[in-house]
Amino acid sequence: MYDFRPDAALPKPELYRQLQQAAEALTEGEPDAVANMANVAALIWEYLPDLNWAGFYRVVAGELVLGPFAGRPACIRIPFGQGVCGAAAATGATQLVPDVHAFPGHIACDAASRSELVVPILRAGEVVAVIDLDSPLPARFDDEDAAGVEALAKVLVHRV
Ligand code: SME
Repeated sequence: MYDFRPDAALPKPELYRQLQQAAEALTEGEPDAVANMANVAALIWEYLPDLNWAGFYRVVAGELVLGPFAGRPACIRIPFGQGVCGAAAATGATQLVPDVHAFPGHIACDAASRSELVVPILRAGEVVAVIDLDSPLPARFDDEDAAGVEALAKVLVHRV
């Protein structure tokens, strides 16, 4: 049994450090990308408060395709450049969106979502997947969340 139980009162940098360590340990030596993404999506869900969706979109034949996640069923295919995930995939840059209603082209998979953080996973300079976090709270994510999820993305480069 895996029992990763973070202390909710931890400062964000420490919370993300522990999340990275747990992700490293859970995916260590496992070559199956789906298994690793599934476990990391579940881990993010347990570690980070105030989320309504946490998971992966993978780059498949030039578009984003839904990967393992926790939360409500979501849109399956997202073209590069569309929505927050598509913007992250097209630019290779983290998208920190405090108000999804103000983001042109935001794709509403769950009407409850108010803010969003999308971090690309780059391998050899190419986006291979994105990590998508949604929250029902406005401005749920800040620069510390972005830095924490970017560090998590680096842990996963050769594991997804
Ligand atoms: N809101 C995302 C779509 C994915 S769902 O939130 C799970 C977007 O605009 O790319």
